[in-house]
Amino acid sequence: MKPSFHEPSARVSSAESPSKHSITLKVNGSEKQLEVEPWTTLLDLLRENLELTGTKKGCDHGQCGACTVLVNGQRINSCLTLAVMKDGAEVSTIEGIASGETLHPLQAAFVEHDAFQCGYCTPGQICSALGLIKEGKAQTRDDIRELMSGNLCRCGAYPNIVAAIEQAKQECEKEEKP
Ligand code: FES
Ligand code: FES
Repeated sequence: MKPSFHEPSARVSSAESPSKHSITLKVNGSEKQLEVEPWTTLLDLLRENLELTGTKKGCDHGQCGACTVLVNGQRINSCLTLAVMKDGAEVSTIEGIASGETLHPLQAAFVEHDAFQCGYCTPGQICSALGLIKEGKAQTRDDIRELMSGNLCRCGAYPNIVAAIEQAKQECEKEEKP
């Protein structure tokens, strides 16, 4: 019996060129109109479309925290977040954290405490620490360690990272008091 062959259907070819979605994001204070494919992650959008390469791709699986950014003030792993899901959101990356030439207290504290070696994990650590300070849950060094445990550092700079966050947290809290 002759084998039967099928022509590729029109449905397959339309599945190969799905339409893009229009979204708006406020990134580090600037409004961006973007056309994104449905599967584009926020991480790839930031790094590849907006050229904000400070946010790092480590594991790309939600396990290392290198891709941490703030979305509407909350820290998230941008590698696990589809950009289309965040239409209308405010996104803060490491590039938007300093005030002009003045470092954010966290950035200054990381330098002061020598809290990085290669620096690859540092943007994610700093964004995560910003979220942690805003959450207001960390009262002790152990709390900081626990609440930063999703951010891995291959250089093992942990004691200095915790010391830097503790110092910056106190400075930020003092600034917030009337
Ligand atoms: S790159 Fe996102 S958690 Fe590792
Ligand atoms: S400073 Fe090198 S990975 Fe953390």
